[in-house]
Amino acid sequence: MADVLIIMGSDSDLPVMAEAAKVLEEIGISFDLTVVSAHRTADRMYAFAKNAHTKGYKSIIAGAGGAAHLPGMVASLTPLPVIGVPIKSSTMSGIDSLYSIVQMPPGIPVATMAINGAKNAGILAAKMIGAHNAEVQKNVRAFTDTMETSVLAKAEKLEELGYKAYLESK
Ligand code: RP5
Repeated sequence: MADVLIIMGSDSDLPVMAEAAKVLEEIGISFDLTVVSAHRTADRMYAFAKNAHTKGYKSIIAGAGGAAHLPGMVASLTPLPVIGVPIKSSTMSGIDSLYSIVQMPPGIPVATMAINGAKNAGILAAKMIGAHNAEVQKNVRAFTDTMETSVLAKAEKLEELGYKAYLESK
């Protein structure tokens, strides 16, 4: 039984949504990942959203682009928290996706990430689980500590080398 369900409107969303999967793997959280389209596979979307909580998932990450109705529709059908990822679209740079996901009516929240913000969706899902699971919380802490160490090392190198040599070394 996996902890997180990752769904996306199309396989063309996968390069972005894979970032959520990668970070969950890094933190040690299990997930299922598949394509569920609100428009092209409406019955499948309904079944997934209605049944997700009975399968033991603790949250759903839903990515979609354009008229991005998947996260909101899923949120309207499940008691689980839904994290929405607006996918950068080719015609409107993802502004259409962002507005479609973020402007939910009161009563049906979707935690909306930045455009293409799938990595943060994974981290947020991990933090939600970590709130009730000390081991996961420890892993989330270790993940953020690693990030801090890496940025501090970069800052030290930049201060040491100066900006020109730093850029050349990249
Ligand atoms: C949305 O339409 C999907 O989430 C995707 O971002 C977009 C385009 O889908 P494809 O035409 O690439 O399958 O439903």
